[in-house]
Amino acid sequence: MDGRTLPRRDRTLPRRDRNVKPERGWTVGAPPSVGPPDVTQRSGSASTIMAAMTRFPGVSFRPARDADVERTYEVFLEASDDLSKRVGRPPRAGTGAPPRRALALRRSCVRHDPDRFWVAEADDRVIGFAIAILRDDVWHLAALHVVPEYQGGGIGTELTRRSLAGTGPATALTVITDAVNPISNALYMRAGMLFQDAMLTFDAPMPASGDAGEALAAAPDDPHEPSAAGGRTLERRPIDLAADQHLLASIDLSTIGFARPMDHELWASIEGLRGMLLERDRVTVGYAYASADGAIGPLAVHDPSDLPAALTAAAAAAAEAGAVSIHVRIPGSARLAASWLVARGARLSSIGLFLASRPVGRLDRYVTSGGDAFY
Ligand SMILES: CC(C)(COP(=O)(O)OP(=O)(O)OC[C@H]1O[C@@H](n2cnc3c(N)ncnc32)[C@H](O)[C@@H]1OP(=O)(O)O)[C@@H](O)C(=O)NCCC(=O)NCCS
Repeated sequence: MDGRTLPRRDRTLPRRDRNVKPERGWTVGAPPSVGPPDVTQRSGSASTIMAAMTRFPGVSFRPARDADVERTYEVFLEASDDLSKRVGRPPRAGTGAPPRRALALRRSCVRHDPDRFWVAEADDRVIGFAIAILRDDVWHLAALHVVPEYQGGGIGTELTRRSLAGTGPATALTVITDAVNPISNALYMRAGMLFQDAMLTFDAPMPASGDAGEALAAAPDDPHEPSAAGGRTLERRPIDLAADQHLLASIDLSTIGFARPMDHELWASIEGLRGMLLERDRVTVGYAYASADGAIGPLAVHDPSDLPAALTAAAAAAAEAGAVSIHVRIPGSARLAASWLVARGARLSSIGLFLASRPVGRLDRYVTSGGDAFY
């Protein structure tokens, strides 16, 4: 949807003055003490972002604090419900995020990525925010939302620019987007993030009776799935964060391409979320997280042919924890995960895009932590 076709907004609310020509540089007070990077050095497209400014008077920006955690979740709900209404989807479609997990992500970012979690304020109220993480040489924009009455005024662009703190010319910039929103996708493309993969979100009911693990493993007619014969079955054992950190790092490096001990720490801290190493003949082939809400992911395996068995193991763990359905977000290139889901009656609930400033990772063997909009 083009910005010019957006529905008319409440005229009493602050409006961007379309006759005001954007100026270069800062428009609201002095540059922040936690300074954003000089993104002009990154690339031609990213430097376009430098020229952006907010066209709403009185808007200011500051790094987020713990006290902003809940309000930024409300901003996310407001912005995504508004988008859903405009594209004819039911409210909160595709969010799938249990608040406690979304709030834990925010707290973790205040702690580990304080220069990359920014809020925009007007009249002492948070009206927009951006959350990004930086792990090794990969930057990921985990969330960007502006409340409807302040959209289209440069705030999203400015939040993105500030959340680039710590990146350099060699950093890969990545984001997972909602494919229905050309505004956000265009904004990211202007920052140099281009299409790498699709992101498919599926929901499926858990088998109603009997042993969920066995029922899920019993491969329906799926020509793509490796034989379900015993050899492919994976054993699960709980992740021991301290003892298993090298194993986790080696799986992360061979799949997404960067290590992230603090993110495993985050997932380990979330009540109802189980982390497990997946083994065959005592050899670790990957890891998975599954929650009592049925959210599966992140899940990563060294060899993509292990995806079906890994999903079976994770879904069985979710069933044991009480889940009655599963919610999974996979890269389109993870074909064996897609066919596993389709063969079990999963419904495609939303389609997203994975954009990156250069190709990153091997996503054909990965399931994202879709529940919390993280990598
Ligand atoms: C995405 C979002 C954060 C952007 O924030 P914003 O403050 O409205 O964005 P900005 O005003 O900084 O930038 C939007 C730019 O996109 C441009 N744009 C809009 N539609 C476009 C299109 N179809 N193609 C190209 N550019 C487009 C606008 O003209 C504007 O550029 P300009 O500043 O040069 O005029 C906000 O719209 C939002 O919260 N949307 C709903 C939630 C969402 O989709 N979040 C992203 C999740 S991936």
